[in-house]
Amino acid sequence: MKLLHIDSSILGDNSVSRQISAAVVKVLRAEDPGLNVVYRDLGATPAPHQSGSLLAARGLDPAARTPTQASEVADADAILDEFLAADIVVIGVPMYNFGIPSQLKSWIDHIAVAGKTFRYSEAGVEGLAGDKRVILISSRGGFYGPESPAAGLEHQESYLRGFFGFIGIKDVEVVIAEGVNISADQKQAALQGAVAHASGLGRLLRAA
Ligand SMILES: Cc1cc2nc3c(=O)[nH]c(=O)nc-3n(C[C@H](O)[C@H](O)[C@H](O)COP(=O)(O)O)c2cc1C
Repeated sequence: MKLLHIDSSILGDNSVSRQISAAVVKVLRAEDPGLNVVYRDLGATPAPHQSGSLLAARGLDPAARTPTQASEVADADAILDEFLAADIVVIGVPMYNFGIPSQLKSWIDHIAVAGKTFRYSEAGVEGLAGDKRVILISSRGGFYGPESPAAGLEHQESYLRGFFGFIGIKDVEVVIAEGVNISADQKQAALQGAVAHASGLGRLLRAA
């Protein structure tokens, strides 16, 4: 079983989502000591943006690529290959300006590949990545639940659920720490609640 662990917070050791994603991976490792974990830190090393030069390099015969072009293509291919190989994907995702960090968006731009993770057919769009389990670790400074005044600004979880659904993944679970910038007490309570939620995730792995 392969697990891809991704963090996208820019806050390093002060990050809430990083603490919770690490707790989730720890629980899953305890359940399956043979779990093969690959870690990608998009905060430290963002995925390169899609670009005209990358597209141009892809259009060339590999033998005709410059070393820089070959390296750009290899970096992008590695992102897609890591995702395709994973059975479980754990993603630490803070809310930034009501959406996801741009570092995570540029990662997504490398895994949304026609013919690999989705395809268009006469029947419409077909997701090709449906065999995976995705666990999103969401952290937010405020509150964005359905009853909150800011619910309409929630474009983080809804975007990711939409994206992973588009590529065929139905098994999406969200572990959330909300209101972490409201007060120190709320931050602590949100963190504890999320870690408690994480401790239950291993049972799902065993049942899978
Ligand atoms: C650049 C930036 C933008 C943010 N935008 C929002 C936002 O739109 N809504 C919100 O509730 N919190 C926002 N926050 C607060 C973070 O969501 C919150 O601090 C969260 O814990 C960050 O996750 P992390 O601790 O894993 O880094 C923002 C923080 C940063 C650094």
